[in-house]
Parts: sequence; C-alpha cells; structure tokens
Amino acid sequence: MVETRRLCGALGAEVSGVDLSKPLNEDTARGIVDAFHEHLMLVFRGQSLDPGSQIAFTRLFGEPQEHPLRTRASVDGYPEVLIIETRPGRIGARNDYWHSDISHRERPPAASILHALAVPDGLGDTMFCNMYRALETLSPGLQRLLDGMEAVHSAEVTMRRALEKGTDALPIESVPPPTTHPVLRTHAHTGRRALFVNPHFTVSFAGMTREESAPILDYLTEHSTRPENVYRHRWAVGDVLIWDNRCTMHYAVRDYDDTVHRKHHRTTAGGERPF
Ligand code: SIN
Repeated sequence: MVETRRLCGALGAEVSGVDLSKPLNEDTARGIVDAFHEHLMLVFRGQSLDPGSQIAFTRLFGEPQEHPLRTRASVDGYPEVLIIETRPGRIGARNDYWHSDISHRERPPAASILHALAVPDGLGDTMFCNMYRALETLSPGLQRLLDGMEAVHSAEVTMRRALEKGTDALPIESVPPPTTHPVLRTHAHTGRRALFVNPHFTVSFAGMTREESAPILDYLTEHSTRPENVYRHRWAVGDVLIWDNRCTMHYAVRDYDDTVHRKHHRTTAGGERPF
C-alpha cells in the first residue's frame, strides 16, 4: 500500500511517503503500480532523481526507451532521458497540443515520466485528461459506431515541428509510415476500454478521408477535454509525474517565452501494440 490523495474528479493522485531515488521494496513498488492503474496519473513531490534513478523507476512500468525520432537532446550517456527545456534565449519545441506520446508507433509507450528540474513561477503547467471517461460519457450510439473502427496515426506533425525555426527541436530525416490503431483501446492491465485518438497524431479513420474524419475527430477532442475531465498540474521543482498513455492525453501549456527557465527530464516505458 502507498498513501495516495486524489487530485481532482477527473484523474490523478498524489503519492506521499516515497523516495524514488532509493530502491523500492516489493510492496511499495506494487502499491505504486496499482495506484497508477487506478488513478491514471501520479504525482510525487520533492524528489531528486539522477538520470539513472529515473530510468530505474521507469522500468517499473515497462522497458525504458529512446525516442524513436530523436527529436530532442538527451542527457549525456543516457539516451533514454530526454531534455525538455526552455532557457533564456532558447525556446524548447512546442508540446501545446493534446496528445498521447508517440501514438504513431506500432507499439506506443505505455507510460511517460517527467521530472521537474526548473520551473518558471506560475507558468508552464501541464494538463491531462481521462480517456476512459471520455469513452464512457459518449452516447451508446456513438460508442457503437466507433467500436471496431481503426484510426491512422502519423508523425508528420513531428516533422513539421522539427522544421520550425527558433526552437531546440532536432531535425528528422523522414517521416515513418503511419500506423493504424483501434479507436477503442483495451488497457492491457485493467481490461478497461479507452478512447484512443488524439488531435496531434491521429489524421483520419481508416477507410475514410481526412475531410470525412475531421468533424468526428474534432468532436472527440472537444468532448474528451471538457473541464470536468481535465486535471491541470502546476509544477514545482522536484515533482515527478507519471501518466498512462493508453488512457490519457496531455497538453503542455505554452504561456511563457524564452525569457524563463523551464526544464524537465522525460523518460518513457515501452508498451504493447494497442488492441
Ligand atoms: C510532453 O508532452 O511530453 C512534455 C510535457 C511538458 O513539457 O509539460
């Protein structure tokens, strides 16, 4: 068992009494994984993780992975630890769109972890929404329509972002072929079904044109990101957040410019092929 406190009605819990820089005993590790599956997103305050300990913590949820497109710098000697940073004179690549990390991969990451190292006062929050609930609150008719449908996920936006001037995004050579995933995804551990489309990487439904797909995808985004389905995290240095990419989307609020310092280390844990 670990001590948790729910953060809001939508998703998320704060875990207390755990030092993630130390090896976790079996009970604590199991308690954290159970809380993760129950709450979809966990916050640990006041942590101080070096890259090796962040990788060790990530392994609790799946095999730590390098970013497949290497669009950001990583920590020297730790290719699995991405540096997400804006500092005076150097703005970081944008993440201000609702997405589930790297959903264009055949096996997208199960979980992502951010550790806050520098936080601009009151700026640069990150928002999360609950995609189980997004599905459960659709009408039975729309749920039936989406059941059995597949959607096409593409990295073309990542290529476009890499071409934008003035950010730290690293160039990528080519866009990998798009991937198709079920629109209603079953979570490998909880068995619950979640809506698995996002407005960043999902470009259409399989067998439909982008124009035909757009109104439905737009509706699903609007529905999923209603305020009552969203948690907004205000960062403090030392926070470690972990979220489940199989049943959440997230959005990094870009209300700052290149006069501030905001820095996180990000790791991802590998996941299964969506089914
Ligand atoms: C991300 O989308 O992985 C980064 C989120 C953030 O910078 O808050």
